[in-house]
Order: sequence, then structure tokens, then C-alpha cells
Amino acid sequence: MVFGTRPEAIKMAPVVQVIQKSDHFQAVVAVTAQHREMLDQVLALFRISPDFDLDIMRDEQTLFEITARVLAGLEQVLREVRPDVVLVHGDTTTTFTTALAAFYLQIPVGHVEAGLRTGNKYAPFPEEVNRHLAAVITDVHFAPTSRARAALLREGVAPERIFVTGNTVIDALHQVVKPGYRFRSPALQEAAGRGYRLILVTTHRRENWGAPLGGVYRALKRIVLAHPDVAVVFPVHRNPIVHELALSAFADCPRVCLTEPLPYGEFANLMAQSFLVLTDSGGLQEEAPALGKPVLVLRDVTERPEAVEAGTVALVGTDEDRVFTTVEKLLQEPVLYYKMANAVNPYGDGRAAARIEAGLLHYFGLGPRPEEFSPPESSGGHKGF
Ligand code: UD1
Ligand code: UDP
Repeated sequence: MVFGTRPEAIKMAPVVQVIQKSDHFQAVVAVTAQHREMLDQVLALFRISPDFDLDIMRDEQTLFEITARVLAGLEQVLREVRPDVVLVHGDTTTTFTTALAAFYLQIPVGHVEAGLRTGNKYAPFPEEVNRHLAAVITDVHFAPTSRARAALLREGVAPERIFVTGNTVIDALHQVVKPGYRFRSPALQEAAGRGYRLILVTTHRRENWGAPLGGVYRALKRIVLAHPDVAVVFPVHRNPIVHELALSAFADCPRVCLTEPLPYGEFANLMAQSFLVLTDSGGLQEEAPALGKPVLVLRDVTERPEAVEAGTVALVGTDEDRVFTTVEKLLQEPVLYYKMANAVNPYGDGRAAARIEAGLLHYFGLGPRPEEFSPPESSGGHKGF
């Protein structure tokens, strides 16, 4: 199993746990460390000690550098381990480059979170193309939803090579979200306990750097100034470009709490206690619906339409006035808010990693084809699990 960034680690952690306990497989974990601190937070939480650590992250690394370092570093690891299959996750540059490295050594590839598509090669950039390229190389595809499977079938992938598993992020969420959770950070415990309506914000997408994020941050400032009962918690991604934009935008703004990236347990429980989520992240679009939290997505397209159709996620883009008016409406119109705040689980039931193990066994001719994930009915207003 090879991964390198925070979201890959969160979503692969349940798979690592299952494969480590498996009677049939021997787990080997290699991290590229495309992210360093944000990866290490997740490894510590899930107590994963990688067998190999390429430690490639550099400040302000370019796509070229990540690609070259991962490829060079993995050659030796893959030659040494000679795995029967390499598992990659999602759509980062680690994902695509690992698949390429495995291909060069003719090692089969399993792709977790396969089949997400927007159809626009620059949105998200470079992830849409990364996942396409990984798919071309992949031998066994673990699609989180039936829609993702349909996308792979349209691209000519043989149906027997696809397993619909649900998204492993829901497995991870189940492990960390607890009712009555007390935050380890006193500042967060206080923010959560003061009765504010909390808006949880994250931003990092490359296509949003610069003017688009400027518009979003101005809208948020206007919201906070107009509503004394609203507070924003914004764990800022370590990317220096995002960091600098966020810090300068909110330098003098009351009730906007900028934090370091939060450990996953703190972050997920904060989401569970929020009023609303504003994000351009992929993972949050899957987690927040499971917790019954409305999500406004700061993008024009999404590869995760299931929760948009269920009504819990809305695409608002990055235009200042549009973001401002949409948040205003949710703050002022309880009927609209409660319509969106439906706990829906189109993405998983907490058993995705077990289905991935079963899918691998079937792929190697060692077990029956596992039952597919199908989403439970909407729980109609119930607040999370
Ligand atoms: C990467 C992925 C993106 C994924 C995102 C999740 C690519 C091209 N991008 O974007 O698909 O959605 O991770 O967060 O694969 N940094 C640190 N410490 C960290 C992490 C990052 O200092 O723990 C800083 C470094 O200066 C680094 C920069 O952030 O150079 C950018 O990291 P990088 O992985 O290149 O891009 P992300 O924007 O994080
Ligand atoms: N997350 C976290 N701490 C934070 C912000 C996010 O643990 O301070 C988690 C979040 O719950 C989700 C994942 O990180 O599981 C999303 O990562 P990110 O937004 O970096 O990447 P994306 O999902 O867009 O690829």
C-alpha cells in the first residue's frame, strides 16, 4: 500500500488495518510523504508505522518534482518487496506516479476510490487526469459508488475487474466521531461550547489559488460581521500559498479562528458539531453528509454528485456575492437549512475496507465475489451516527 498525502492516509488507514489482520495477505506500507506533518498526524492517530518512507516533501514542491522523486524512490522499494499487488488511493500525484512505477515493473495495481470523474481535465487540476492515468494502469478497481463503477464501464473497464465497496473514509469516520466528544485543544473546546453557529472552512485546490479564494474569504468576512452569533473555524492547509492568502485575509477579523491543520479526530468531531461546512476539499464532501451537515462546495464542478442529488451538498463556486448570499440564506431560513441538513450516506457504510480485502481475494481466485455496497435509504433528518 503506497500513499503520501493526508486524505490518502485517512482513507487508506482502514485498508491498512484490515490487510494487517488478514490471514491471506502480508501488508507492506510505503509512504512517499508527499505531505510530511499532515501525513504524520494521520499515521500517529491510526498507529501506522510505515515499512518505507521516501520522505520526498519539499517546500513549494512542483508537480514535476513530486513525480520525479516518487518514481525514483519507488523503484528500489518495489524491486525489494516485489509485491503481488500495489494498492494506491484516489488522485494525487503520488497515486498516479505509484501506479506508473508498479506498471514499469509489471506489478498489478489495485486502485481504491476508483472511477470519480468530472469530465474536465483541468478541474480539479491535476487530480482529474491523475485518476484517469491511474485507471488506465489499474488491474482491479475499487469504486466507492455505483456511479463510479458506471464511469469505469464507460471507459471500457471489464465489469469483473470492478468492485463497488463504499468509500473507506466512512470507515475512518466511524472510528473517530464520538457523541459528546471533548476536544483536546482547549481553544476548540471553548469555540464549540460557546453556542456560536460554527462554520467550518477548508480550502486548498490549485485551481482556486489567488482571486477565487480572495472572493470566498471576503464573503466569509461579510458573513461574520453581519452575524454576531456566527464563528468561523478555519484549519489552514500547510501549502504556503493557501496559508499566506488566509492569514492576510483574516488578520483583523473577529470570530474567525485560523488554526494549524487539525488532527483527524479533532477535525471530524468539529465537523460533527458545526452548523455548516464550506470547502473545496474532496473528502469533506463525503464526510459531512454522513454527519448531516450541509456543505457548500467552493468549486464549479464535482466528481461527487451523489450528495448534491441528495440535497445535502450544493455547488456554489467562488464568486463573493454568490457565496455570501447562499450562506445568508442558510443562516436565515431554518426550513431551507433543515432540508439540507439531512444525514445521507451515499458514500459508505463503514465496511468498505473489508470489501476491498474480499475483492482482492476474489481477484486472486481465493474467494467468492463480495456483496456490493449499496447506500442505505436517507435517514430523513437524523443527525449523523
Ligand atoms: C495535494 C494533492 C491534492 C490533494 C491535497 C490534499 C497533488 C498534486 N495534490 O495538494 O490532490 O487534494 O494534497 O491536501 O497531488 N506542505 C507542508 N506540510 C505538509 C503538507 C504540505 O509544508 O504536511 C506544504 C509544502 O510546502 C508543500 C506544499 O504544502 O510543498 C504543497 O503540497 P503538495 O502535496 O504539492 O500539494 P497540496 O496542495 O497539498
Ligand atoms: N482534515 C483533517 N484536518 C484538517 C482538515 C481536514 O484531518 O485540519 C481531513 C478531512 O476530515 C478529510 C481530509 O482531511 O478526511 C481531507 O483532506 P484535504 O482537504 O487535504 O484533501 P482532499 O480531500 O481535497 O483531497
